[in-house]
Amino acid sequence: MGAFHEKKLPDDAPVSAKALNWVDSRFPLTATWKAHLSEYYAPKNFNFWYIFGSLALLVLVIQIVTGIFLVMHYKPDATLAFASVEYIMRDVPWGWLVRYMHSTGASAFFIVVYLHMVRGLLYGSYRKPRELVWLFGVGIFLCLMGEAFFGYLLPWGQMSYWGAQVIVNLFGAIPFIGPDLSLWIRGDYVVSDATLNRFFSFHVIAIPLVLIGLVVAHIIALHEVGSNNPDGVEIKEKTDEKGVPLDGVPFHPYYTVHDIFGVSIFLMVFSAVVFFAPEMGGYFLEYNNFIPADSLKTPPHIAPVWYFTPFYSILRATTADFMGWLIAGVAAYVALLVFKSRLSSKLKIAAIVIGLAIIGGMLIFDAKFWGVVLMGLSVVILGGLPWLDKSQVKSIRYRPSWHKYVYLVFGIAFVILGYLGVQPPTAIGTTVSQVCSFIYLGFFLLMPWWSAAGTFKPVPDRVVYHPH
Ligand code: HEM
Repeated sequence: MGAFHEKKLPDDAPVSAKALNWVDSRFPLTATWKAHLSEYYAPKNFNFWYIFGSLALLVLVIQIVTGIFLVMHYKPDATLAFASVEYIMRDVPWGWLVRYMHSTGASAFFIVVYLHMVRGLLYGSYRKPRELVWLFGVGIFLCLMGEAFFGYLLPWGQMSYWGAQVIVNLFGAIPFIGPDLSLWIRGDYVVSDATLNRFFSFHVIAIPLVLIGLVVAHIIALHEVGSNNPDGVEIKEKTDEKGVPLDGVPFHPYYTVHDIFGVSIFLMVFSAVVFFAPEMGGYFLEYNNFIPADSLKTPPHIAPVWYFTPFYSILRATTADFMGWLIAGVAAYVALLVFKSRLSSKLKIAAIVIGLAIIGGMLIFDAKFWGVVLMGLSVVILGGLPWLDKSQVKSIRYRPSWHKYVYLVFGIAFVILGYLGVQPPTAIGTTVSQVCSFIYLGFFLLMPWWSAAGTFKPVPDRVVYHPH
C-alpha cells in the first residue's frame, strides 16, 4: 500500500479547493469525474441514435424514485393490493402522478431500450471490442423483462393475475420438472398471496439490485473500450501526441449539453403521455386491469403488455402443425453447417448430433414445450450477435446496400409479431406469425452467411462529420 499523500495547498486557497483536496486525497472524486466525463473522449459524430443510453439512465432513475414512493403506500397482500393502488390513485396527495409516472415509465423504458438496441444493431456496436458491453446489455434486457413481469402482478387486477397464471404455467411445459417448477415459482397451486409476496420482493429489491449492478458494469465496460459511432471507426486508433483521439470530444461539456436537449424533448413527450393518455389506449395500462383479480373468472382474451408481445407471438406460433416446418428448418440448418461452413470436421459432427437430438426431441415433446424454447431462444440469441456477425465492417453505412433490406424485413417481422401478440389468435394470424418467427430467427441464425456476403464500401480513416 502506498503512503498517504495530501497535496499542500497555500493557506489562502479557497475553502472549496481545500475541501476538494481533502476529499480527493481520500477518494478519487476528481479522477472519476475526469475519467468518465470531462476527459472521456467520445466520437464527435454521435447522432440522434446516441441519446437513448442517457434516456435509459433517466428512466431508470424515474422508476426507482417513483417506485420508492409507491412502496410507501402499496400493500403486498392479496386482499389489500388492488385497493391500495386505488387509494394511491385517489387519496394519496399526488399519488396518481407518481403511479402514472411509474406505469408510463415501464413502457418508456422498453421504447428507449429497444431504440438503444436498434442503434447497436445498425452500427455494429456489439462487435469487438464491445462484446461485453453488449452482453451486459442483454443481461439488462433480461432483468428488465423480469422486472416488468413481476411488477405487473402487483396491482392485482384481472390482467395481472391471469397474465402471471399463463406465464408461470409455461414453465409447466418443461419435460419432467415442469409441473414442480411452476408450483415452486408460484409457491401455491394457483397464483395467490404467496406468489404476490415473492413477486413483490423480486420487483422491489432483488432485480433492481442486479439491474443497477449490470448498468454500472455496462458503462464501465463501455468506458474501458470507448464508444463506437455511426461510422464504426475506432477513434482511439488516431490520436494526438497526448493520446487524445483526434476525432474525440470531451463528453462533458459537449455531450452533457447535447443530452440535456434530448432529455428535454423526452420529458415533454413523457409528460404528455402521463397527463393526457396514461393508459395509451389500453397499451400501457390494460383496461382489464382496472377490474380486481378474480381467480374464478378467466378474462376472454389474455395478452401480455405490448413490449412482451413479439416474443409471446413466437410462443403462440409454435403449434402442433408448425412442428413439421421446424423439423425441416433444423435439418436444413444442419445441412447448411455441414456443407456451407468452414467449421472443423469435429464441430460438423457435433452439429449433426445436436441437430438429430433436437429433431428427436421435437418428435417426442409437444409443441407447447418447443414454443417456450423458441420464445427463450428469441431473446437469448441476442447475446450471440458479436459472434454471428461476420461482416467486414461494423456500420451499416459501409455494408452492401442490400443489407439494409435484410434489417428492414427483420424489423417489419418484429413489429408484426408484436402486433399479432396483442390480438386474439386467428388462423391467418397464426400463419403470419409462423412466417415472421422464421424470419426473426433466420435473421440471427443465417447471419454468419448473409452478413459476409456482398460488396462492402471502403471505410474512411477518420469519422465523417459535418458541423451543423
Ligand atoms: C437500463 C438499461 C440501459 C442503460 C441505462 C444503458 C446505458 C447506456 C449508456 C449510458 C451508454 C452510452 C451512451 C450511448 O452510447 O447511448 C450505452 C451504450 C451502449 N449500450 Fe446500453 N444501456 C441499457 C441497456 C442496453 C441494452 C439492453 C443493450 C443491448 C442488448 C445495450 C447495448 C449498448 C451498447 C452496444 C452500447 C455501446 C454503443 C456504442 O458505443 O455505439 N444497452 N448504454
